[in-house]
Amino acid sequence: MSGLGAVFKPHSVAVIGASKSPGKIGHAILKNIIESGYNGPVYPINPKEDEILGLRCYPSMRAVPGEVSLAVISVPPQAVLSVAEECGQVGVNCLVVITAGFKETGKEGLDLELKLKEIVKKYGMRMIGPNCLGIIDTHTPLNASFAKRSPLKGRIAFISQSGALGVAILDWSIQRGLGMSKFVSLGNKTDISETDLIEEIASDDETSVILFYLEDISDGRRFVEVARASSSKKPILIFKAGTTQAGAQAASSHTGALAGSDLAYDVAFKQAGVLRAKTIEELFDWASAFASQPIPSGKNVLVVTNSGGPGIITTDYVENVGLNMARFQKETVENLRKSLPPTANLYNPIDVIGDALPERYEIALKYGLEDPAVCSAIVLLTPTAVIDPDQTASVVIEAAKAHRDIPIVTSFMGGEAVEQARKTLSSAGIPTYPFPEPAVSALAGLTRYGQRRLKPSTISSPVYEDVDREAVKEIFREVKEDGRLVLLGPEAARVARSYNIPVAPSLLAKRPDEAAYMAEVLGFPVVLKIASPKIMHKTDVGGVKVNCKTPREVRDGFVEIMDNVHRLMPDATLYGVEVQKMMKKGVELIIGMTKDMQFGPLIAFGLGGIYVNLLKDVSFRLAYALDESEIEEMISETKAHMLLKGYRGEKPCDIKSIVDTIGRISALVLDFPEITDVDVNPVMAYPDGVAALDIKITIS
Ligand code: ACO
Repeated sequence: MSGLGAVFKPHSVAVIGASKSPGKIGHAILKNIIESGYNGPVYPINPKEDEILGLRCYPSMRAVPGEVSLAVISVPPQAVLSVAEECGQVGVNCLVVITAGFKETGKEGLDLELKLKEIVKKYGMRMIGPNCLGIIDTHTPLNASFAKRSPLKGRIAFISQSGALGVAILDWSIQRGLGMSKFVSLGNKTDISETDLIEEIASDDETSVILFYLEDISDGRRFVEVARASSSKKPILIFKAGTTQAGAQAASSHTGALAGSDLAYDVAFKQAGVLRAKTIEELFDWASAFASQPIPSGKNVLVVTNSGGPGIITTDYVENVGLNMARFQKETVENLRKSLPPTANLYNPIDVIGDALPERYEIALKYGLEDPAVCSAIVLLTPTAVIDPDQTASVVIEAAKAHRDIPIVTSFMGGEAVEQARKTLSSAGIPTYPFPEPAVSALAGLTRYGQRRLKPSTISSPVYEDVDREAVKEIFREVKEDGRLVLLGPEAARVARSYNIPVAPSLLAKRPDEAAYMAEVLGFPVVLKIASPKIMHKTDVGGVKVNCKTPREVRDGFVEIMDNVHRLMPDATLYGVEVQKMMKKGVELIIGMTKDMQFGPLIAFGLGGIYVNLLKDVSFRLAYALDESEIEEMISETKAHMLLKGYRGEKPCDIKSIVDTIGRISALVLDFPEITDVDVNPVMAYPDGVAALDIKITIS
């Protein structure tokens, strides 16, 4: 347990810097605490006052007669350290530090923040902030923030890295009728991070869904592990800002170039079972469905509408987001035929047509929801002169009561004519959206979470007993001794062999004659490749010669390669030419690894060869959250998978060997954190195994 209980359910609260002046933050916080109905002792702390807002005021924390579990600090930055120290001395459990002026302001502020962190650690306290808006728990109830209004009581926990956005959303949520269980403004995350809060709130009975606005993640690996374990219990939805490529590192490897700066977040969220919203609006569109609706058992959607256009829009969007329009069984269609007018559409979407009275919606929902194919439903309404939106809303509410296991969302389109109906739906816990797209998107979110719940909450990476770590250590030692960080082809091949990764046989030749001899040893035909740590893309500098069938072709090829490279890259150090047995053609794949600053090693898989960056048919996963089924899923996400399964009469490839190779590369990079980049391109896949033809490994 993360020891955060006192943040949300404190036995008593102190406000240090409480003020009588209504314009001050210390005043607003105390007022909010009182007005939120908090029923534990509240202690305003201010050396100049005896009483504030009707409460007895104390000059310091030491003067407080009882124990304090939560202290909200709203004093100027230079006073924060001494106040925090005093809190530690009197045994306060948690601090919420509102004060700004820490690391966000530069070096001096950072120093102050580090000292504050030390104090918090020294006394075993926990801290939200500094530089935050505060916290709210509507169930305690406690509003220890300086937000203008308290949110409605509900089941959404909302955690925001931006205080300003947080207040705006709290205010807006009231208008939209969205109820919150908790609100936390994270501030600078000096102690309590998003991950700590996930851990804490995952087991909170008052919360159905956890929402985040995030700008970064403090500890990538811990986040993935905690979120994965927690998201099997409770949905976690995140809107993460900062998705541009601007911060991307320049990458020299194929894999590095394929993985943009934001891709790691996408991958991490996916492996953590977190749903990523594209906009703030989508985040809350999803949240209102998650807070009130059950998780659907599958992808099949029922649509009931009183007009053709919205029905078509919805059907299109259902397909776009990867859901299916449910196909009714015969009996459903027959029942609908008997009860609806002949002009109605009886197949999904059920169109009860423009003059539909509530009874028609009732019939459509009754038979539609009873159909065994239906997993979720959307009810659409446009306000024609004869329609009764309010009565129709009641019909939807009754249908939802009769089918508590099927999520139902609505889009009653229009303005004033549907306003009351929307309110009725919202207060009955039926999400309602102004247009069909967000309604479909919300169902898609619920459905994706349903699929996520089927995955295990923890991942155990495969263990390979037959690997030779000592041999790899020795190779890395030799490379470093040679003053290099990039392995030569034959060295990288030795590393791969030590992990039992199938590699095409190869040898390193220094002279043309030696190359010809080696080709005879390996068996013709062979491929020649320049061996130089400087050259990442050998083909581009004329450094590769394929299909050399005789000793003479090998000798000539050696000379030609050396000439090409001397001409095009005169400064590159050349170690000779790698002579590799020419392997038969297979499906060309790439398996690689690039390191993300936040999340660590990312494994890539996809179509390989020289067009890899053009085709970009690659999927990624974090190495430390990869088991066999995750690798299989990763393969199945690519077009390469179609080729591997046997495209247009070709024999299928040995996918098991590919899974094994990805698993072994992943184990290698986890065993040796000094590996910064791996590119195995191509890996040839055959019906009876795989062979790595070109391996690049860079270490730090
Ligand atoms: N113990 C107790 N009380 C103290 C202490 C102390 N050691 N030191 C000062 N006080 C009292 C003061 O006397 C004052 O009370 P008074 O009104 O009776 O005189 C009160 O604490 C506040 O101190 P002030 O000096 O008046 O400071 P002020 O209220 O102007 O500012 C604050 C303090 C709000 C913490 C300010 O420094 C600050 O950081 N403001 C920005 C906060 C912020 O934006 N946080 C991020 C929010 S997220 C977002 O962006 C929305």
